[in-house]
Amino acid sequence: MENAALVSCSLNLLSGSRSCNKPPSLLTPSASVSLQVSQSPFRKIHLNGDKRLRKYHTVYAMAVSMGQETRAQPGSGSDNGSDEASSPKKVMVIGGDGYCGWATSLHLSNKNYEVAVVDNLVRRSFDHQLGLDSLTPIASIHNRIRRWKSLMGKDIGLYVGDICDFEFLSEAFKSFEPDAVVHFGEQRSAPYSMIDRSRAVYTQHNNVIGTLNVLFAIKEFGEDCHLVKLGTMGEYGTPNIDIEEGFITITHNGRIDTLPYPKQASSFYHLSKVHDSHNIAFTCKAWGIRATDLNQGVVYGVKTEETAMHEELYNRLDYDAVFGTALNRFCVQAAVGHPLTVYGKGGQTRGYLDIRDTVQCIELAIANPAQRGEFRVFNQFTEQFSVNELAALVTKAGKKLGLDVRTVSVPNPRVEAEEHYYNAKHTKLAELGLEPHLLSDSLLDSLLNFAVQYKDRVDSKQIMPSVSWRKTGAKPKTVPA
Ligand SMILES: NC(=O)c1ccc[n+]([C@@H]2O[C@H](COP(=O)([O-])OP(=O)(O)OC[C@H]3O[C@@H](n4cnc5c(N)ncnc54)[C@H](O)[C@@H]3O)[C@@H](O)[C@H]2O)c1
Repeated sequence: MENAALVSCSLNLLSGSRSCNKPPSLLTPSASVSLQVSQSPFRKIHLNGDKRLRKYHTVYAMAVSMGQETRAQPGSGSDNGSDEASSPKKVMVIGGDGYCGWATSLHLSNKNYEVAVVDNLVRRSFDHQLGLDSLTPIASIHNRIRRWKSLMGKDIGLYVGDICDFEFLSEAFKSFEPDAVVHFGEQRSAPYSMIDRSRAVYTQHNNVIGTLNVLFAIKEFGEDCHLVKLGTMGEYGTPNIDIEEGFITITHNGRIDTLPYPKQASSFYHLSKVHDSHNIAFTCKAWGIRATDLNQGVVYGVKTEETAMHEELYNRLDYDAVFGTALNRFCVQAAVGHPLTVYGKGGQTRGYLDIRDTVQCIELAIANPAQRGEFRVFNQFTEQFSVNELAALVTKAGKKLGLDVRTVSVPNPRVEAEEHYYNAKHTKLAELGLEPHLLSDSLLDSLLNFAVQYKDRVDSKQIMPSVSWRKTGAKPKTVPA
């Protein structure tokens, strides 16, 4: 009965080995279908066991559309569908299987946008590679999409492939014809990019070339398409002056100009984002691309209205020292009785936001697109905290739940200021209508309870930092298990 409601998925096997992106080695995961290692593993699948089957294919999966039952206006929400409305706006979510991307795909689909996920599933492979796992068990992308269809009657398209492969990306663009592209599809961990040379090269290649391909695809196949690109507040570093939203007006030797705000990135990952921003700004000028660069703060939380609807829609929650982000990590540490790991003095201050606000910000950016040729920059966060402040908040919330929460200062694996001035502007999304979910006791309670619920899945060995900015080297490194 349930199956009747599921969207059917077909795998289109396209031959060829268009290779451009050569990420570092992977450990073979213990699944019956594994991603291969040293030769562009993320686009090639081989079947384990039978040597006769060890033949490589590039696999593109496309969810076959079963037709949109209700075509309502974008932005109207699931309950307000209207039969007479015109086609919804089409949004391609690159990286739609990831933490921010999955929550955003569901949110936009719920708001009646027509959504297609583009993802090469490499984030899942990083887990196999490093022996990590999400705190929450996550369903495969195919099952996620089927579950959404069975619950809501809405299709989400799926293109499985690497955006560094321009042929794949072109086919996806031509087939889906997006009005907007939300680009989350990058290697997003600073520690991962600092493990060794191969991960540094992979990160910069994957992120910079992927984004360049997206820009060329827009130019070739959808020049009116609005690019909403995820950057990070980390691009700015921690200057001793206020951080503006993308641009700063400077008077120098009696002359005045408004210039891109200086970037002081502090990892090979953050540097890839800076380069992306430059490439996007240049193509807005040169080709008239319309783009919004969202300098996102650190995201926390796991539930959104949509991901909470069913276990198969649950989002990933990373708590390990490579992919986990500050507040999420602290909540899991508190849940398992591990001291909260403050790096160095703990005065490191950053912008933060709830994942429910990530999805809201993306929706606002899409609904209010940049003009042709415009390169807009929004700082996407709602509050700023130091690491010590976060540790104090988690300690207080944990004690209320009867948890014994302690804090320990560990040697800082990063090269960064541990005490500094920080005041970053973030007014543009508020002006578009963002209604923030500020960090509250109830959110911390719910995040902590969630972490307690899944604490048996925690591998405590993954908690302490294992990647040192100073010790990164040319030789392939194994992150200690
Ligand atoms: N999570 C945060 O706190 C945070 C903060 C600031 C900025 N961001 C940015 O937001 C974006 C999404 O972050 P996230 O936490 O969801 O990351 P994530 O790793 O969970 O998701 C990224 C997704 O992109 C996919 N991907 C990577 N390279 C790809 C490629 N070449 N082709 C196709 N798919 C590819 C991955 O498989 C993954 O599903 C990233 O660009 C990140 O830099 C995230």
